[in-house]
Amino acid sequence: MNAAGIVSAPSDPRLLGRDVRRIAFDAETLRARVSELGQEIAAAYPDGELVVLGLLKGSFVFLADLVREIRRPLHVDFLVAASYGDAMISSGHVRMVYDPETSLAGKHILLVEDIVDSGRTLNTLMGTLKQRGALSVDICTLLHKRIAKDLEHPVRFVGFDAPNEFLVGYGLDHAENFRHLPYVASLKQVHTD
Ligand code: PRP
Repeated sequence: MNAAGIVSAPSDPRLLGRDVRRIAFDAETLRARVSELGQEIAAAYPDGELVVLGLLKGSFVFLADLVREIRRPLHVDFLVAASYGDAMISSGHVRMVYDPETSLAGKHILLVEDIVDSGRTLNTLMGTLKQRGALSVDICTLLHKRIAKDLEHPVRFVGFDAPNEFLVGYGLDHAENFRHLPYVASLKQVHTD
């Protein structure tokens, strides 16, 4: 890391030569908080059937670690939505690409997100999920930027409040890169983005 706090790309070949501003959440910090979240979630659902719905693609790493920390019976399914394309700012359009096949009626549904940014994704998907006769529908996100102005549904479980920077790693991408970083890094924006 140099004096400006920039992590030099050669230190991690997964960064494709890009520089990151800083490591926002390192692997050990993530592991510890995900473990706590798992305990909070298990305690919040003392009974009933629980379906953990991972919102792909971004949640796949978080979801895999989280469900292994929830020590109660559960089922796992997925939703696929896309909104950003390859740009570093939101296109504002949320498109459902895959709908879960599991019946949600009479069950506790926990929608798992990697990050809440503008809140558009959650506003769109929660409206749909709440029409399916579930016993409860709640949201768990690893990261919450706290900048969404019109979040229609409260986020029940939050891993960390996140800086309003372009974050990658632990499932989060830029143009499909960097999802496999074991930490969350703040990507240094360049003019060609
Ligand atoms: C990202 C991220 C969240 C959403 C958050 O998904 O994974 O789902 O954007 O942004 P919002 O609060 O402004 O809606 P993206 O559409 O990039 O797809 P991905 O999960 O495949 O990366």
